[in-house]
Amino acid sequence: MKRIVVLLSGNGSNLRAIIDNINAGNINGVIVAVISNNPQALGLKRAESENLETAVLNHLEYDSRNHFDAVLLEKLISLSPDLIVLAGFMRILTSKITDYFDGKIINIHPSLLPLYPGLNTHQKVIDNKDKKHGISIHYVSSELDAGPLIAQAAFDVKEIKTKELLEEKIHIIEHSMFPFVIKNICLENIRWDKKSKKVIFKNMGTINDSIQKKYEI
Ligand code: GRF
Repeated sequence: MKRIVVLLSGNGSNLRAIIDNINAGNINGVIVAVISNNPQALGLKRAESENLETAVLNHLEYDSRNHFDAVLLEKLISLSPDLIVLAGFMRILTSKITDYFDGKIINIHPSLLPLYPGLNTHQKVIDNKDKKHGISIHYVSSELDAGPLIAQAAFDVKEIKTKELLEEKIHIIEHSMFPFVIKNICLENIRWDKKSKKVIFKNMGTINDSIQKKYEI
């Protein structure tokens, strides 16, 4: 069983999807803690309702990013995670954390990176009249929404005209794809190779192929 720590700041619908997949036996892992920088995060309530360990590290209570990250790093080390999942965690991690857990932190982002790192991705897709939108899952570096890509899923924007509808579609994809990637990391079918600095896939062709087949995106 892989030890998974989830970091979040908000709603936690991706956490819910991960929990559902663990409970259904689809992911060979256990969530050892859910940590939030936001004491009001609904995701914390979702975690508590599943009797998961939770912790709040409110970034507003720390005098600097470095101080916050030092405390978070200590907390993460104490949990001995195999995988740290950023599921709507709205803080950039400094290299202190990303170097220590190199290849062990993944993030999900609602755009086809490198397009639109940061916030308001759906509005940007509308404003720019993009034909495609989608999601990216990547290993985390200390740069915002950067780091080696693991998987992406794209769809045609076509008649989806509002950011609310785009978000809805994005969430449907995220809730399938994030657990799918986590499952395969736990099975060691996906891993980060520090030497070659490449994402290595085993038993699954290229992941984007298998995801596109699986989800018919
Ligand atoms: C997701 O859209 C994810 O891509 C982004 O933040 C959102 C989190 O949603 N990083 P939720 O809190 O899991 O509902």
